[in-house]
Amino acid sequence: MRIPDLVAIVTGGAGAVGGGISRCLAREGAHIVVADIALEPAEKRAEEIRGMGRRSLAVKADITLEKDCQELVRASLKEFGRIDILVNNAGHFGDRLGLPFTNQTEEEWDDNYTINVKGPFFLCKAVAPHMMERRSGKIINISSIAAKRDPQIVPAYAAGKNALLTLTRIVAKDLAPYNINVNAICPGMVWGHFWKRLAPLVAAGEPSFTGMEPRELFEAWFHKSTPLQREQTPEDIGNLAAFLASKEARNITGQTIHVDGGAAMN
Ligand SMILES: NC(=O)c1ccc[n+]([C@@H]2O[C@H](COP(=O)([O-])OP(=O)(O)OC[C@H]3O[C@@H](n4cnc5c(N)ncnc54)[C@H](O)[C@@H]3O)[C@@H](O)[C@H]2O)c1
Repeated sequence: MRIPDLVAIVTGGAGAVGGGISRCLAREGAHIVVADIALEPAEKRAEEIRGMGRRSLAVKADITLEKDCQELVRASLKEFGRIDILVNNAGHFGDRLGLPFTNQTEEEWDDNYTINVKGPFFLCKAVAPHMMERRSGKIINISSIAAKRDPQIVPAYAAGKNALLTLTRIVAKDLAPYNINVNAICPGMVWGHFWKRLAPLVAAGEPSFTGMEPRELFEAWFHKSTPLQREQTPEDIGNLAAFLASKEARNITGQTIHVDGGAAMN
């Protein structure tokens, strides 16, 4: 096992990608704090992780609130006495695409910035003193292919996920003297709640996709945009997170790695 007995916080751990990350970290030996705004699915995820033989705690936390982020760190330390890994995974694109960008509202722009940038900032700030004191830690931020490719499809989201990449480099440089690695992963297309909501919005604005069911549109989209011609699974993202959280990745920091079947090359 790569990370035996280390303790990881995974935000949005109840969701699709957060599930893959939690399972992969647990498979490699970590105990998992499943942090999510939705407590019931977070508790189910924690139960799944306990079923893998690890300890797990579900915590209800809204990462857009700094006090919730501080409380999440306090609750994790109270339960486990240490935090080795933080995965800032919770994020979303909002309720509307609002295309073209001139149709986007201030509220949509603020909402995207708040969840995709401010939340990870609050959590980095909340765990940093503990990790700095122990001179050890790994932070992994989940950005998106949207930061690189087709940003006009989700303007405020793409801008937020790009800002998260900048935050990754800022925090990586500040925390490097304390032996803390900070990296970002850009997933491509992972099926789940995220795409079930996104697909009808994309279909409404793109005549060639009109009338398609969400899964059909998802498949048409990745066939069009992904050189390797396959979707990404939550475990594809989780496997990279487990590597970045391990000692083997000790000399990797401030980096952005795409798990997108090559889509960023297009
Ligand atoms: N699914 C994809 O194709 C895809 C592609 C690129 C990037 N991503 C990114 O991956 C991450 C996870 O996406 P997913 O597909 O698993 O989505 P998901 O909707 O399945 O999961 C998101 C989870 O975050 C939780 N959440 C939402 N708001 C929160 C808040 N304020 N505080 C705490 N938790 C909150 C939700 O309850 C949910 O459990 C997101 O940051 C997303 O932007 C996803």
